[in-house]
Amino acid sequence: MDNFWHIFFIWVHILGVALLVGPQFFMAYAWIPASRNIDDLRVRVKAMRTITRRFGYVGGAGIVLLVCAGTYLIIDWRDYYAVDESVSFTALRFGVVFIIKMTLFTVMVAALAAHMFWLGPRQLERLEAQANGERISPDEVRRARIASMITSVLALALALAIMVMGVMLNSVGWSLQEV
Ligand code: HEM
Repeated sequence: MDNFWHIFFIWVHILGVALLVGPQFFMAYAWIPASRNIDDLRVRVKAMRTITRRFGYVGGAGIVLLVCAGTYLIIDWRDYYAVDESVSFTALRFGVVFIIKMTLFTVMVAALAAHMFWLGPRQLERLEAQANGERISPDEVRRARIASMITSVLALALALAIMVMGVMLNSVGWSLQEV
C-alpha cells in the first residue's frame, strides 16, 4: 500500500509541475507572439486579461497539487526509504537538496505573485491606457513590460531548477548518501 501512495503522490506532483510549467512556455512561445497580430489594442488587452486569468487558475491549481503531494512525500520519505531515525535530515544529500529546493520554491512563488498580482496587471493597465488614447509614453509601456517579463522569466528559470532538484531527490542512489 505504501508503494501505491508513493506512486500516486509522485504522479500528482508531476501533474502539478505540468500544470505550472507547461502554460508558462505556452504563454511565452505561443500566446505573446500570437497576440501581437491583434491590431486593435483594446481587443488585445481584453484577450490578455482572459488568458492571464485562466493561466492563474491553471498554474494556481498546479501549485496546490505540488504542495499537497510534496507534503505527503516529505512526511513519508524516512519510512519509504527506510532511513533510520538516528540519521539527521541534513546529514544526507536528500536533506540539503530539499532545503535548497524549498528556499528556491519560496522565491519562485514570490516572483510569480509579483508578476501575477502587481507587475502583470500594471503592464495591462498601461496598455489599456494607451489603447484608450490616454497620455502615456511608449517608454512607460516598455518599462512596465520589461519589469513584468523579468519576474515571469525568473519564475520559469526557478521552476526548471527546482525540477532538477526534485529529480536529484528521487535519485536515491545519490541522494541517500551522506553529505
Ligand atoms: C512545497 C513544495 C514541494 C515539496 C514539499 C516537494 C517535495 C518533494 C519531495 C520530497 C520529492 C522526492 C520524492 C521522493 O524521492 O520520494 C520531490 C520530487 C520532485 N519534485 Fe518536489 N516538492 C515541492 C515543490 C516542487 C516544485 C515547485 C517542483 C517543480 C516546479 C517540484 C518538482 C519535483 C520533481 C520533478 C520531482 C521528482 C519526481 C520524480 O522523480 O518522479 N517540486 N518533491
